Amino acid sequence: MKSIVIERLTVKYGDYTALKNITFSVEHPSFLVVMGPNGAGKTTLLKALMGQVNYEGKIVIFGKKPIEALDRMGYMPQRERINRNIPLKVKDVVLMPLISKNVFGISKEHIAMAKNALKIVGMESFWNSQFSSLSGGQQQRILLARTLARDPDILILDEPFSATDVATKLKLIEILHSLKKKKTIILVAHDINPLVECTDKVLLLNKEIIAFGTMAETLTEENMERLYGTRIPIIRYGEVCYTVGSDSHIHI
Ligand SMILES: Nc1ncnc2c1ncn2[C@@H]1O[C@H](COP(=O)(O)OP(=O)(O)O)[C@@H](O)[C@H]1O
Ligand SMILES: [Mg+2]
Repeated sequence: MKSIVIERLTVKYGDYTALKNITFSVEHPSFLVVMGPNGAGKTTLLKALMGQVNYEGKIVIFGKKPIEALDRMGYMPQRERINRNIPLKVKDVVLMPLISKNVFGISKEHIAMAKNALKIVGMESFWNSQFSSLSGGQQQRILLARTLARDPDILILDEPFSATDVATKLKLIEILHSLKKKKTIILVAHDINPLVECTDKVLLLNKEIIAFGTMAETLTEENMERLYGTRIPIIRYGEVCYTVGSDSHIHI
């Protein structure tokens, strides 16, 4: 089954074309990694999926328009909008997407869903903790729990590892790995290496699609050079590919 079908998608900000003629589709369940340099339109693509930008072309999510399918998607934005100085408790953060959908307040069901999401990320004992008192890595797990709270079929994660330490990154990847059999996961990352066990498909994006397919199909030195404008050696073990060099090497 396809969760997402995109045909000839173009997004413009005024005169500036951020995405041009994008066509690809995503299987459900599956794990898609989106890679590209800064300004490539990665965040714009995710926002288009969520119906947050005007676009030309077609986006179909489980047979519906983005705006009609919002309840099936959980979005973890690139730069967190939560002010870490506001005295929010963990439960407030995780309940946020549940409450905003319901004018009648918090139900027992919402609390059960929020607690279940915290359990998935291994943070259920932090229900009453102050969000701001947690470490950066714990906060990131809480933000993933918030994304999971409504049990969405599609997880859309914009650079979830950009400000995390290695241990948090590995923990988040372990959680995502446990979810990939049930969900469509779309994740923007600069470094494929820690994700090779999870990844089904890769989208190399720089306003247009440079390549879309399996790791073996997309992660070639030619494609990486077209994507980043610099040579990035690739090591290949059958279907699995690693990029050589640090994250910052290709973080252009
Ligand atoms: N709201 C906006 N108005 C005008 N230009 C924008 C807006 N959002 C993004 N852009 C521009 O569109 C391009 C793609 O942005 P973005 O999707 O954030 O790229 P990425 O996430 O790959 O770094 C960039 O050049 C950015 O400056
Ligand atoms: Mg971005």
